[in-house]
Amino acid sequence: MWADLAPIGRDPGSGGYRRFAWTDEDAALREWFAGEATARGLDLVEDRAGNQWAWLGDPDADGPGVVLGSHLDSVPDGGAFDGPLGVVSAFAALDALRVRGVVPSRPLAVAHFGDEEGARFGIACAGSRIITGALDADRARGLTDADGVRLGEAFTRTGRRAEHLGRDDETLRRIGTFVELHVEQGRGLIDLDRPVAVGSGIRPHGRWRVDLTGTADHAGTTRMFDRKDAMQAFAMLVTSVRAAAIAQEGVATCGKVRVTPNGVNAIASHVTAWVDARAGSEQQVRDIVADIARDLEAMDGATMTEESWTGVTAFDPALADDLAAMLDGAPQLDTGAGHDAGVLAVAGIPTAMLFVRNPTGVSHSPAEFAERDDCLAGVDALTQVVERLVG
Ligand code: GLV
Ligand code: MN
Ligand code: MN
Repeated sequence: MWADLAPIGRDPGSGGYRRFAWTDEDAALREWFAGEATARGLDLVEDRAGNQWAWLGDPDADGPGVVLGSHLDSVPDGGAFDGPLGVVSAFAALDALRVRGVVPSRPLAVAHFGDEEGARFGIACAGSRIITGALDADRARGLTDADGVRLGEAFTRTGRRAEHLGRDDETLRRIGTFVELHVEQGRGLIDLDRPVAVGSGIRPHGRWRVDLTGTADHAGTTRMFDRKDAMQAFAMLVTSVRAAAIAQEGVATCGKVRVTPNGVNAIASHVTAWVDARAGSEQQVRDIVADIARDLEAMDGATMTEESWTGVTAFDPALADDLAAMLDGAPQLDTGAGHDAGVLAVAGIPTAMLFVRNPTGVSHSPAEFAERDDCLAGVDALTQVVERLVG
């Protein structure tokens, strides 16, 4: 499975992945998923947001079932493991159950959530947010990419119907428990010297768009004190974001920027930048954003707009305790990364996560990694978890 996925969306230069929603690469990933489902005799269905579900057993007649899965898309120049490790491990866990002769007492599925990173249309976990209603369907349809293509249009171009996007109660009813295995995106398991952890929760986080205005003019003929340069405002924003995060003991990042007109010899007339802020508590995130907003007040015409917000998210604590005990006292870790599992947990679905050690501690980068033995330990843990839930 890993070898088949490896070339899809890989940038030969950086070695990173560019797997964005509703692109040719995304179609290839969907085809791969469908092939894995078919090869195992699973029933493949797509929900109203285009997420794929491969069912063993009938969730409508005998459900709700147990669902394993994750996403296959990536950030720009992302690593190979963030997302795919969870989907590959889910299929591998199903195979392991069969080898062990386990006949599931409940329907069992592997899920592939689309557009988890929000790299193209800006909203992370769009697939799970649409089916749970956390992302309004009209708003989803109207989200645009860098070329001005609307999500609804991109969805339609793949042969799907944009009016179909929306909350999907039929799909939600089928999910009794959701378990997402994921590569760890930090150093927790390195420090603990353990291959696998159970997730306890997700720290609150959000994304804000900042618009900064300047006046386009000639780089060579406009005196320094006569110019209004949106890039200068942007530089101040970046330092403000860092200072606010440090002051409030959280993290905040300015990782994406669009400059108009984006010419070497033209003063920038407009900058749109995105701020990602996260912290241990919702109040800390709000304080980071308030600090930045205060700094922006000094910049003529600057605006800051919330694009997404995820409050503090706890996975089912009894389930997490039970799984940690079953997995030889595996540690429990919370994370600063968002996941579809978090969206489903907020929607009231009993949800658990497993994390697999990442020896580089780096993620959202080609340096993201997991050793083969740790991946196998993850599959074994996931298999034990499923056996516990459906055995
Ligand atoms: C998803 O990986 C996120 O946390 O942004
Ligand atoms: Mn990610
Ligand atoms: Mn992920």
